[in-house]
Amino acid sequence: MRTVLTPIRTAQRVDRFTYAIRNIVAEARKVEATGTTVRYLNIGDPNQFGFVTPPHLVEAVAKAMRDGHNGYTASVGIAAAREAVAADFTRRGVRTAADRVLITSGTSEGIELALTAIVDEGEEVLVPSPTYPLYTAVLAKIGATPAYYRTDHTNGWLPDLDHIRHSITPKTRALVVIDPNNPTGAIYPDDTRRALIDIAEEHGLVILADEVYGDLAYDGEVPPMALLDQDAPIISYSSLSKAYLAPGWRAGWMAVGRSPRLDPALAAIKKLADGRLCSPGPMQYAVVAALNGDRSHQHRFREELRGRAALTVERLNRIPGMSCVAPRAAFYAMPKMALPAGKTDRDYVLGLLRATGILVVYGSGFGTDPADGFFRVVFLASPGELAAIYDEMAAYTLA
Ligand SMILES: Cc1ncc(COP(=O)(O)O)c(C=O)c1O
Repeated sequence: MRTVLTPIRTAQRVDRFTYAIRNIVAEARKVEATGTTVRYLNIGDPNQFGFVTPPHLVEAVAKAMRDGHNGYTASVGIAAAREAVAADFTRRGVRTAADRVLITSGTSEGIELALTAIVDEGEEVLVPSPTYPLYTAVLAKIGATPAYYRTDHTNGWLPDLDHIRHSITPKTRALVVIDPNNPTGAIYPDDTRRALIDIAEEHGLVILADEVYGDLAYDGEVPPMALLDQDAPIISYSSLSKAYLAPGWRAGWMAVGRSPRLDPALAAIKKLADGRLCSPGPMQYAVVAALNGDRSHQHRFREELRGRAALTVERLNRIPGMSCVAPRAAFYAMPKMALPAGKTDRDYVLGLLRATGILVVYGSGFGTDPADGFFRVVFLASPGELAAIYDEMAAYTLA
């Protein structure tokens, strides 16, 4: 007999867990329910805007399925994919052994595995502000704390190295470096990268190098951070999601640097990976096809992005009160809107959404101060659509 009707209690960690990029969709649905068409500029998914997965990758997955590769794989991934990742790093100048590579369910799983393997409850991780919000979400889940370090929009969104140094405590374990960066589109010069490595070395931190946009810089590929120092404690990750136009496949990889100091981390990551069995099997065959095969789509994609970035910066900077640093990679821009006293970035973004149906994400969802008025635009829509959207944004902002 059922007598108790109180709701099942959920874990407190969920209260701490936020992911603004998708959380804000609930607001968009309410606006849609009123009959307004919503233009979703919140999620960085090129396939939603007409960019197409290269056919040889689709064929690699289909063939793997037809050939019967539909069972579990080794938890670290199939040998051919691990070898392809190792060979790709080696081609880029970072000698990498396949046994230090894991095939993951996207970069996202690499982030979760690395943080879970290395950071204990109550410890701290240096995370850029603004950041890709999965870092803070995972830290909330594992009971650890982000220590935000400033990246400076008046200096091309480069990290504030002194702020990093001053934010380090005995509890700090890792330094997250997202380069090229989401949400700012920044690329860090070698001297900045070198200084980040020096700081990590000095304080015994591991660098978590998020390199998912490494092939999407408008002026050509950005080398892995580990190229500057192959013995630095760097764990690097990337995926097929962005530069290979297959975000739904959840196919990615991580490479643990060759320094023996990382051996315990590698063992811990492999141990955790055993528990989730494997990443999607057939998609691992596409990792082989992607890294060993034709990449000519990347050149075309980068040129499309370069044009949209220029359009975005030009149009947004024309809006009184708005300023936008030019991105140099990927498909995001992080403009700043001068807000009236007492107003927040969320107020601006929700006002824009309700008045125009344009959905962007407030900067505080990426860790910036709500009063600073930052928001993130995904500029994957066609130039014509973007121009119309920026016209509406201007009209709303001037009204
Ligand atoms: C910086 C950064 N890291 C990781 C991810 C997650 O990518 P994946 O689809 O490979 O899990 C994203 C997705 O937008 C991202 O922007």
